[in-house]
Amino acid sequence: MLSIILGTRPEIIKLYPLISLLKKEKINFNIIHTGQHYSNNLNNIFLKQLRIPKNKIINLKVGSTHHARQISLMAIGIEKYLKNNKKVKAVIVYGDTNSALAGSLASINIKNIYLIHLEAGLRSFDKNMPEEISRRLIDHCSDLLLCPTKTSKDYLLKEGIKKDKIHIVGNTIVDALKSKIVQSSIKKNFNKLKKNYLLLTIHREENTFDPNKLKIIISSIQKICKNQKLHAIFPIHPKTKKLLSRLKYDQKLIRVIQPLNYLSFINLLKNCKIVVSDSGGIQEEACILKIPLITVRNSTERPETIKIGCNILTSVSSNNIYKNAKIILKKKIYWKNPYGKGDASKKSLKIIQKMIHKNEKKYY
Ligand code: UD1
Ligand code: UDP
Repeated sequence: MLSIILGTRPEIIKLYPLISLLKKEKINFNIIHTGQHYSNNLNNIFLKQLRIPKNKIINLKVGSTHHARQISLMAIGIEKYLKNNKKVKAVIVYGDTNSALAGSLASINIKNIYLIHLEAGLRSFDKNMPEEISRRLIDHCSDLLLCPTKTSKDYLLKEGIKKDKIHIVGNTIVDALKSKIVQSSIKKNFNKLKKNYLLLTIHREENTFDPNKLKIIISSIQKICKNQKLHAIFPIHPKTKKLLSRLKYDQKLIRVIQPLNYLSFINLLKNCKIVVSDSGGIQEEACILKIPLITVRNSTERPETIKIGCNILTSVSSNNIYKNAKIILKKKIYWKNPYGKGDASKKSLKIIQKMIHKNEKKYY
C-alpha cells in the first residue's frame, strides 16, 4: 500500500492527478491529511471538486500553531499510523510544506518503508524561507527523488545525492491542468470574462510578516491598475486578510474575494491580463497557461520561469512592481512550458512500482 501525505491546498491540487491514476489502476493507497489547511475554502472545496475519495482519507486535524509544534504533532500522528499499518510500503510527500516535512521525519526511521519525494530538487537558496529548509531536509532523507526539470536534478547531484535515486518526471501541475475537468471548464469559460483585470495572490511569510510590505504591494497594484486601466481581483488567503484589514486601499480598484475553488481560480488566471503573486504553484501555472507574471519575492525556486521570460522576480520596493509589470506586459508571449507534457504522475508511478518490486534495500 502507498500512503500519500498532504495537508495544504497546493498539495491537494498537485497530488490529485496521481490519486486519480491510483484509483483508475486500482492500486491500494490511502491519504494521511495532516489538517494543516482546514478552512473550507482552503481544503474541503478542493477535496470535493477534485474528487479525492473521502473513504481513503485519515485526517490528523493538527490545525494551525507554531512551526515546530505543528511539525511535531503531524509527525507523531503519521508515525503512529505507519507503525500500526504493516501494509504500507512507501510514503509519498510533495514539495516543501510543514506537512511534507512531517511525513518525511515520521517515515525515515521505519524499516521497509520507502520515502518518495515528488517535486524534489527545487532550490531558492534563501534560507529565510521555511520551505527552503524543509525541501533540503526532505531531499536528503528520501529514497526516491522525482524532479520536475533538469535544473532540479542538477541541484541534487551537486549536493551529493546519488544519481540512481533521482529521476526527471515533469511536474504533476501540468497533469492537473490537462485533466478533463480542468480542460472542459477552461473551454466552457474562455473569453467569458473580459481580459481587463490583474490577478493578485499574496500569502508568503516574507510578505505577510510586516504590514509595511503588504502596504507597498497594494499601492503598487493600485498604480498599475490606474496606469493600465485595469482593476485587480484578489482571492485572499485568511492570514493575509487579517493583515489587510489594518490597511486602507481603493476598494473599487482592488476587489478582495474569498479564496476560490480550483476551476474558478484557473479560469480567472487563464483570462487575466497579468498576475502578481508570491505563490510557488502559480509561477508554474501562469507559465503553462501563457500569462505574464510578476513574482513578488526576493528569490524563487522556479528559475525555469525566469529563464524563459514569463516571470520577473521582483523584490518589494515602491517602484519595482510597477516598473516590472510594465515591462512584462509589453513582452510577446512565445515561451515554452518547461514542466513536461502532463505525464508526470504516470512516469512517477512507474518508477515507484519498479522500486518497490525490486525490493531494494534502503540507500543509507
Ligand atoms: C502553507 C505552507 C506554504 C504554502 C501554503 C499554501 C508551510 C510552512 N507553509 O502556508 O509553503 O505555500 O501553505 O497555501 O508549510 N489559516 C487559516 N485556515 C487554514 C489554514 C491556515 O485561516 O485552513 C491561517 C491561520 O491563521 C494560520 C495561517 O493561516 O496560522 C498560516 O497557515 P500555515 O498552514 O502555517 O501556512 P500557510 O501560510 O497557509
Ligand atoms: N489556487 C486556488 N484558489 C485560489 C488561489 C490559488 O485554487 O484562490 C491554487 C492555484 O491555482 C495553485 C495553488 O492554489 O494551484 C497554489 O497554492 P498557494 O499559492 O497557496 O501555494 P504555493 O503554491 O505557493 O505553495
